[in-house]
Amino acid sequence: MFLPQLMARAEKGEKLTVLTCYDASFARVLAENGVDVLLVGDSLGMTVQGHGTTLPVTLEQMVYHTEAVARAAAGKAFVMADLPFGSYQKNPEQAFDAAARLMAAGANMVKLEGGAIMVETVRFLTQRGIPVCGHLGLLPQSVNTTGYRAQAREANAATQLFQDASDLETAGAQMLVLESIPAVLADEVTQHLTIPTIGIGAGAQCNGQVLVLQDLLGLTEKPPRFAKDFMEGAWNIGAAIRNYVASVKAGEFPGPEHSF
Ligand code: KIV
Repeated sequence: MFLPQLMARAEKGEKLTVLTCYDASFARVLAENGVDVLLVGDSLGMTVQGHGTTLPVTLEQMVYHTEAVARAAAGKAFVMADLPFGSYQKNPEQAFDAAARLMAAGANMVKLEGGAIMVETVRFLTQRGIPVCGHLGLLPQSVNTTGYRAQAREANAATQLFQDASDLETAGAQMLVLESIPAVLADEVTQHLTIPTIGIGAGAQCNGQVLVLQDLLGLTEKPPRFAKDFMEGAWNIGAAIRNYVASVKAGEFPGPEHSF
């Protein structure tokens, strides 16, 4: 699936469903059960590799997992791949080289973390045919600075995030992940932007939702507040995924208990 088809769904007011996905088996199951976007997230550093953070994940590893997911998803779901830590922060040229590897591996879009500092890079990539999703709020690649806690709860930080979101869109970003921020701020950003916002711990008003697959499957030892175990009451993995898709499309997930 290409970006215009995905955007047409969002423009109709349909909530977009996103799940992380790291291999071909799950890519097939997710695509067959109606997930719009498969995110080859660098969270694989934690869920697949067992690290405590996403920082050790390499570009080679992201290429490997993107190839596996893209083979199974071809024509059935949109594939987004994370630019891993250290592969894009130096300058736009470095980011282009890394993003080109992920696009050649089968990604339809790349995602990168950061606000003002990434605006020039987003412009550089999008002007060269690489669709980009921004990522604001809790930035897992910056965990050494912020820890894993909700962001933009104070007025100054909220104002900065709002401005960053606007600037990323102006630079050409075509989607924006908002992670662990107050639901009211995510709502304001969503209303201000024309590109779809995808929330994770950012309330129900975003244009779509993303979860880490292992959180949805109840495999995470200490799940974050915004996660929900969709295996509860489901008789198999396909049913759990269909429940997630239906809950997001109906605006029923996330509830206030999953938000800040
Ligand atoms: O890598 C990942 O799983 C992500 C999500 C938290 C959005 O970036």
